[in-house]
Amino acid sequence: MGEVKTVAVIGAGIMGRGIANAAALGGYDTILEDLLPNALRSAQSEIRANLDKAAALGKIKPADAEAAFRRLAYAGTVEEAARQADLVIEAVPEEMESKIEIFTLLDKICRPTTILASNTSSLSITEIAAVTYRAQKVLGMHFFNPVHKMKLLEVVRALETDDATLATAVEVGRRLGKEVVVIKESPGFVTSRINAMIGNEAFYMLQEGIASAADIDKALKLGLNHPMGPFELVDLVGLDTRLHILEYLHRSLGEKFRPAPLLVQYVKAGRLGRKSGRGVFEYSEASGTKSPELLAKEGN
Ligand SMILES: NC(=O)c1ccc[n+]([C@@H]2O[C@H](COP(=O)([O-])OP(=O)(O)OC[C@H]3O[C@@H](n4cnc5c(N)ncnc54)[C@H](O)[C@@H]3O)[C@@H](O)[C@H]2O)c1
Repeated sequence: MGEVKTVAVIGAGIMGRGIANAAALGGYDTILEDLLPNALRSAQSEIRANLDKAAALGKIKPADAEAAFRRLAYAGTVEEAARQADLVIEAVPEEMESKIEIFTLLDKICRPTTILASNTSSLSITEIAAVTYRAQKVLGMHFFNPVHKMKLLEVVRALETDDATLATAVEVGRRLGKEVVVIKESPGFVTSRINAMIGNEAFYMLQEGIASAADIDKALKLGLNHPMGPFELVDLVGLDTRLHILEYLHRSLGEKFRPAPLLVQYVKAGRLGRKSGRGVFEYSEASGTKSPELLAKEGN
């Protein structure tokens, strides 16, 4: 099993910044890359705030927070970020063309021993791996949002992933404090497939006028013991990301995953969730990084 010392994270959005934060806390030298300087700037301040908060709450020692912050570096190009990495975790938007572009580039610039992982929520890792000359070193590492709170890591084995690569990813996941499940590649893996189905059904119910968004959330929380309602959750995930997942599941698994027209309409209207200030609900600040208070105002 190859030793991982340096982790590069490509894409500093909701997930990339969380993964970089966790990797630095896990003791890895971590380089976070995004093509948007603004994304890197807001990632840096959010990671600082997260580490400070964890230290203030006594979850980690102040010295560990400081050490994690020092282990983090930022880069504006994939080349700069990934050249020295032992493990690269890609977290760019959920579109196959973007993933393929990044993995083609990573395969050229990374050492042959470097493991390439995707944080995709649903897409085929085998298809992504096929654009590289190291398919046996490519796999899925599916983290959950928010990364610092969610315990699970789905490690996804693609057709060609070898045992050593799988074992290294499991080991890294454990060092990041995650419970790991290893699954065989399949569209949407375990979690996104179930979650997309529930979330899509909730949009159909909303468009049919069966109940208000707030009441559908309340029903699932209090009646089914879900920690979050489907609309609170989709606002956190991003409606655009959820739509990409559903479109892929619809193409690969069939009619039962056809995206609800109301979800499609919200995305067209720019209602992407917390990150745009408005999704199903409205938020007090137009920021994806500050956990603004839910106004619980119905958004249809
Ligand atoms: N949002 C969630 O709850 C969630 C949970 C698990 C997995 N995922 C998956 O994680 C991935 C990222 O999702 P997200 O929610 O963090 O998206 P996001 O839109 O918040 O962030 C994506 C980031 O990637 C950057 N980017 C785009 N193209 C790039 C490129 N070519 N090179 C470098 N950076 C680039 C963007 O500037 C942006 O900052 C997706 O595959 C998604 O399915 C998301």
